[in-house]
Amino acid sequence: MAQPNPLETLDPINAGVNPYLLENFRPVLEETARSGPFEVEGSIPPGLDGLLLRNGPNPAVVPDPKTYHWFAGDGMLHAISLRDGEVRAYRNRLVRTRALSASIDTKAPRGPKEAINGPANTAVAFFANRILALCESGLPHRMTAELETVCVEDFDGALASPLTAHPKIDVETGRMAAFGYDPFGPPYLRYHEFDADGSLLTTTSIDLPRPVMIHDFAVSSTKVAFFDLPIVLDGDLALAGSQIPFSFNDQLPGHVGVLHRGQPGEHITWYGIDPCYVFHVANAFDDGDCLVADVVVYEKTFDVGMGGLLGSSLPRLERWRMRDGEVRVNRTILDDQTLEFPVTDQAVQSRDYRHLFAAQIGRRDGLDRFPGYVKHDVERETSLRITLPDHLQGGEPIFVRAEDGKTDDEGYLLCIEYDRSRDLSDLVIYDAHEMNAKPEARIHLPVRIPFGFHGTFVPRATFS
Ligand SMILES: [Fe+2]
Repeated sequence: MAQPNPLETLDPINAGVNPYLLENFRPVLEETARSGPFEVEGSIPPGLDGLLLRNGPNPAVVPDPKTYHWFAGDGMLHAISLRDGEVRAYRNRLVRTRALSASIDTKAPRGPKEAINGPANTAVAFFANRILALCESGLPHRMTAELETVCVEDFDGALASPLTAHPKIDVETGRMAAFGYDPFGPPYLRYHEFDADGSLLTTTSIDLPRPVMIHDFAVSSTKVAFFDLPIVLDGDLALAGSQIPFSFNDQLPGHVGVLHRGQPGEHITWYGIDPCYVFHVANAFDDGDCLVADVVVYEKTFDVGMGGLLGSSLPRLERWRMRDGEVRVNRTILDDQTLEFPVTDQAVQSRDYRHLFAAQIGRRDGLDRFPGYVKHDVERETSLRITLPDHLQGGEPIFVRAEDGKTDDEGYLLCIEYDRSRDLSDLVIYDAHEMNAKPEARIHLPVRIPFGFHGTFVPRATFS
């Protein structure tokens, strides 16, 4: 039987409470499986046939608010099955990591040991016929479509170091480009390419002067770019018990390193940039002798210590150009409104493209807020926004191209929204081309899904 959640009784206006343990950041304690159909306003496009998967932090044991970091909560996956215009089922499960087995005595996963028993809480990807729960601190965890944890995934023993939560999977070739940063290096950074069947094709090491946090990278059809930006290990935070002992150091320079895919790491070219930080890359592509990357940039973050918000600034969308023969990154602002969690149609990843989608992000009452969505046209440099009524908040939208969709905006945005008036969540489906505030469908789920990080949509035909 589920235990009462002590977090339910926390006073949200108590300034001493960690903001990532309040409102819809607070974890759910119950693992459940519910059968649909659920109450629907509007109609679900019948072509949406598959599994919407989301991952996010959900501490299984109530953590110390003084030291808890949003990035450290145990990973919980949520799966929503869509078929024939109905939501057929919902299920959630904590990923059975070794960290979880140590804290609540679940069965430890099979597979190799990791240097850090991480939370597998950041993203979920479908690659080589495997559902993978991802977190940059360690190896992926292989999951079933029913959200059972199969094993720690090392690709038949080929991968022995951490893997990013943001690999790039090419829809045409099925290949995966990925990297991992390793605070226990050197090497502090490795680049990998995997074949479509999951075999590791190449690994190369890249020299960095120090270990830095690298959350995402840029991948075009011919090049990759790595961000050496100054979030660094912080001994003081480690001594104070921080769960993620990294902080921003604006005295250190930033660099972006560009490597031709297939070349060894020593051939990398570094471009200078003022200190800033990028968690997420919307997309990247080749433009002649230039690698273009559309990125979400923080002036600074990880700069406010422990137990509070992630950082002092909110991010905006920029276009970064790294041109052969130049020594600095060329930066332009694409949209000066704050946004996060950018996505595109998978079919245009690493290619010239036109549209990206993202969550609006803001702050109010001491909490991060996700008041709607943005659609940005990178060709015209214009944005459309859906802004939600006050009782609703969104998060990362997932774009799914319509069956007859011809362009990278002809499809749907699949969003999980928190409804404060019900303290429950909705699955909401918007027409991505029109960006009407009135959705195609709003499905009232009988559960609350805490604000998380990343998800994916797996078409049923690809996994059944
Ligand atoms: Fe991320």
